[in-house]
Amino acid sequence: DEPPLPPPIWKPTKHDLVTGRDPTRVKFFDTTLRDGEQSPGATLTGEEKLVIARQLAKLGVDIIEAGFPVASNGDFEAVRNIARTVGTRENPPIICGLARAVESDIARCWEAVKDAAFARIHTFIATSDIHMEHKLKKSRSQVLETVTRTVQYAKSLCEDIEFSAEDATRSDPEFLYEVFSRAIEAGATTINVPDTVGYTTPAEFGSLMRGIRRNVRGIENVCLSVHGHDDLGLAVSNFLSAIENGAQQVECTVNGIGERAGNASLEEIVMALYVRRQYYNNKLGRPDPNALLTCVDTQEIWKTSKLVSNLTGMIVQPNKAIVGSNAFAHESGIHQDGILKNRLTYEIMDARLIGMQENQLVLGKHSGRHAFRKRLGELGFDLTEDELNRAFVRFKELADKKKEVTLWDLESIVNDEVRLQ
Ligand code: KIV
Ligand code: ZN
Repeated sequence: DEPPLPPPIWKPTKHDLVTGRDPTRVKFFDTTLRDGEQSPGATLTGEEKLVIARQLAKLGVDIIEAGFPVASNGDFEAVRNIARTVGTRENPPIICGLARAVESDIARCWEAVKDAAFARIHTFIATSDIHMEHKLKKSRSQVLETVTRTVQYAKSLCEDIEFSAEDATRSDPEFLYEVFSRAIEAGATTINVPDTVGYTTPAEFGSLMRGIRRNVRGIENVCLSVHGHDDLGLAVSNFLSAIENGAQQVECTVNGIGERAGNASLEEIVMALYVRRQYYNNKLGRPDPNALLTCVDTQEIWKTSKLVSNLTGMIVQPNKAIVGSNAFAHESGIHQDGILKNRLTYEIMDARLIGMQENQLVLGKHSGRHAFRKRLGELGFDLTEDELNRAFVRFKELADKKKEVTLWDLESIVNDEVRLQ
């Protein structure tokens, strides 16, 4: 019975104005280098983080969360290096660091990000009763006081402040509204709603967005963001529902890597908003049914996925949407027959849209070293001369046995047979 809400207000930020980004597009906040790196076993060196950050800038994400600077000196250096060097002068991404709602964390975070063309401090505190009682050992009023004090402090250092209420989806909504209202009064410019334990459902998350938009003081002046984990496999669906209900920023990772079952997957949200753009433009009351809803360059998706998988060692499951090895493969006779007659029978998108070229799939026994090296480079592998020699010998052996050596064969040659020896 709720009265309908007007469409969200999309005010251009300084970043939008300088980079010429359309302020009405959904902002992509990539946290591959922070939450993604929290996947068990996915630790990256500073140099690897820099390589990924450069590719994320090419991908066109609006914000890169480069790390958690207080966590270690290595992470501090990595974030600072990214802040100082990533992005072109005309189109730099915002570089963000994470900090608990503690002054010393925030100060360290600012030191790491302050040299970026556009810097952001992202600070957070838990707001669910279970977290406040057992983890923080703070009362509700102590949490409210901490929010005001620490957001004000962050604001004294940096203009662009994001505030997150950890475990928001298991928090008392009335308390959550008050926490967000106080964060905005203290200077937050983005309010983020994390589904920290992947507990919510699409309808419930959409309704929480509407509740926040109706009840949080000053919400119309800030960006409403969502963050989510995939414990129930619902993270992307939850985000799409949040977008329909007024969320303006989504926090996600490449290949959906992250704590436990991972974070919402960047490529899935981008492609859902692209393939179904008429549906979402209509839902959001945008006049042009074919207008793009993100600034992400879909052509860079495949390469970014490969790079992240290779550097983190997190293998992408074959049936993963968009970037899995089977995502564009057709096995059954009926499907193959349909595809040969008209691709649209069984394909809702062309593999080339994500930068995957059909001819990238095949290398045969006649291929030379040069093509081999080039193809490995496209897959994100930067091998030493010795590694390349060994990989090439193995490739020739395989090419003698198989009609074609696919990119997945190449990946396994490098990952399993060259790197692990
Ligand atoms: O999942 C979570 O709650 C987080 C916050 C720090 C945003 O990663
Ligand atoms: Zn998270």
